Amino acid sequence: MEPFGYRDERLHCEAVAASKLVAAYGTPLYVYSAGAIRGRLSELAGAFATLDPLLAYSVKSNGNLAVLRLVAAAGAGADIVSGGELYRARLAGIPGERIVFSGVGKTVSELAMALREGIYAFNVESAGELEALNELAIALGVRARMALRVNPDVLSPTPHHYTATGHSTTKFGIPFEEARALYRHAGGLPGIDVRGIDVHIGSQILDVAPFQRAVQRVVELVADLRADGHRLEFLDVGGGFGVSYTGEPGLVPRDFADALVPLVRPTGLRIVLEPGRYVSGPAGLLLARVLYVKRMAGKTYVITDAGMNDLLRPSHYASYHRILPEHHDPGRPEVVVDVVGPICESGDFLALDRRMPHPEPGELLAVDTAGAYGFSMASTYNARPRAAEVLVDGAQHHLVRRRETYADLVLPEVELA
Ligand code: LLP
Repeated sequence: MEPFGYRDERLHCEAVAASKLVAAYGTPLYVYSAGAIRGRLSELAGAFATLDPLLAYSVKSNGNLAVLRLVAAAGAGADIVSGGELYRARLAGIPGERIVFSGVGKTVSELAMALREGIYAFNVESAGELEALNELAIALGVRARMALRVNPDVLSPTPHHYTATGHSTTKFGIPFEEARALYRHAGGLPGIDVRGIDVHIGSQILDVAPFQRAVQRVVELVADLRADGHRLEFLDVGGGFGVSYTGEPGLVPRDFADALVPLVRPTGLRIVLEPGRYVSGPAGLLLARVLYVKRMAGKTYVITDAGMNDLLRPSHYASYHRILPEHHDPGRPEVVVDVVGPICESGDFLALDRRMPHPEPGELLAVDTAGAYGFSMASTYNARPRAAEVLVDGAQHHLVRRRETYADLVLPEVELA
């Protein structure tokens, strides 16, 4: 099912007209399709069904509680990278035994919080973190189920180098050559329960080959670890499954499964997946209103009420997002424009040199495939209250985060007497 499309030339999310949502909630507005989130989770679970998958949805991609409740209801879990994400996941009803904790900089209080929640696994990324986890677990009288995140030294073809994490010259994971020795050490620590092995090579990867290379390396290590007496239970292949930002058909879970299942199956290990964008990206879009259209030095600027504080990706990673008119009118002339926001920086844009039907002031535009790393990376820069978020389910729509107010902006501040 396509979550967004035109009916009678007007953009809809499932059965609800975008214009109706804007009339109710204003702009800028994030709109999510519940059907798309459910559907994408179940496609992933189905494709990897033979490996008893734990689908640990990556909360950082979109951590709205309503989204996390859909994840919980689907029987999926969470990949978290902070105490705040753990708090969100638990609040939304995702049980501790379905949560994995990744990240290079977990604090002592975050580790303690996760130990108390009895999470499925800590993906440990340094010797120092291993020591801290061991000491805390002993102090709390528990054993920490853990995996080492191994750096496989695989270069992954991500659209921007900021989101490639599998090569040896990044801060991520334990160097491949050092992993076996650190596992040996971990095996002797009383607070540590060695359970698995973890790898994550980057985000928005549209080629199965780098995943295969990484998993292949890790599978070789599994044999060594078993020879050393570790009783492994799972192999976490991380996230990073790419989606199509162009409207062209992208890869589907079956493609990733066909590439990875034959590698993992012989190990007998359970697979853990940490998909974020694959689940939430195509399930959301950002609605904005055109404020002004102006021409300067031969260029046309379409100025919308959504800016880089609402959707950072185009500015930060030069990411491409389609811009769709709310009113599809095939007769309209096309122009090449920059779609920009109200923020006082030249880097504030949603699209550059984009050919599109000539937008008029007052009309609505949709930034496509904005459900992942959209709202979750939004800020209040320029003292702009963050956008509202709406969840559409069939013909129903629910406000799942109200628009921030000016009072919200200053709420945490402490005024000096
Ligand atoms: N697991 C780990 C350990 C991760 O670091 C990430 C993403 C994921 C899973 C989920 O990756 P996904 O399936 O969503 O690709 N802000 C960037 C993306 C940063 C991804 C960071 N880590 C963007 O907007 O493209």
